[in-house]
Amino acid sequence: MSESAADRVFRIEGLTARVGAIDILHGVDLEVRPGEVHAVMGPNGSGKSTLSHVLMGRPGYEVTGGSVTLDGVDLLALPTWQRARAGLFLALQHPTEVPGVSLESVVAEAARAAGRPTEGIHDLLVAEATRIGFDERFVSRPMNVDLSGGEKKRNEMLMLGALEPKYAVLDEIDSGLDVDALAAVSRRVQEATEEDGLGVLAITHFSRLLEVLEPDRVHVLAAGRIQAVGGTELAQRLEVEGYAGVLAEAGASVGLPVGVTHPDNHEAGFGEDPFADPTA
Ligand SMILES: Nc1ncnc2c1ncn2[C@@H]1O[C@H](COP(=O)(O)OP(=O)(O)OP(=O)(O)O)[C@@H](O)[C@H]1O
Ligand SMILES: [Mg+2]
Repeated sequence: MSESAADRVFRIEGLTARVGAIDILHGVDLEVRPGEVHAVMGPNGSGKSTLSHVLMGRPGYEVTGGSVTLDGVDLLALPTWQRARAGLFLALQHPTEVPGVSLESVVAEAARAAGRPTEGIHDLLVAEATRIGFDERFVSRPMNVDLSGGEKKRNEMLMLGALEPKYAVLDEIDSGLDVDALAAVSRRVQEATEEDGLGVLAITHFSRLLEVLEPDRVHVLAAGRIQAVGGTELAQRLEVEGYAGVLAEAGASVGLPVGVTHPDNHEAGFGEDPFADPTA
């Protein structure tokens, strides 16, 4: 079945989700088309990472309503690995350390699972490292083990560059990066949007990432809902004024998602969790 460019869209509609007994997302609507960049900004604890986990199918995060489709595929019906195979990539806010497993073998395994050739992956990753000014030795080291925060973020970028997903959710890929690394990583993401038609959902606290990425839209997520939408000027305004003014204008307030009373209580049962620290 051929798929026309007009049909291609990563669509989130009325998404509601809970963690344990706590409702966190209260109806999120977002649409990302190939080549587009959508920024999601919002106060700490507003549900941004929860959204990213729900999209990727992290155990413990229960979808209670709404839908998510990727180029027509019902993502919510699929386990995490099949969502990745359908073309979704998540760069984690807190990348997992995986002792004994190199980044190179992770990417090779992902390619194999997708039925793609695995030869040349080492060279591809080295080329990706060069593109973002990163040392190629990170390609063969145990993934993320003992790496600095910024090095872990650049590892996420290496995987994104090599795996060539259709859509990427970047959860604070800019946090921890030094100015040069930030420029290189944002340029690389921007090139992927232009060269490969990558659609991007970029969660960030800072407008600096958006200077290079030039988002088509900036969405403000607060209390589990998109409360305001605008262009890059909205990101700049938030940086100068903070959230209170912008949200008051939108008729919302800064705060935890409705029902969240114990923000530090992360006791939801996670069971078989592909995101979990394997050494914990
Ligand atoms: N497993 C969990 N158990 C209990 N509460 C949780 C769990 N996961 C998230 N929460 C709560 O849900 C709310 C949203 O968290 P989330 O991590 O999505 O925020 P965020 O917008 O990504 O914040 P930040 O900007 O600090 O990264 C927070 O109050 C958080 O404590
Ligand atoms: Mg977060």
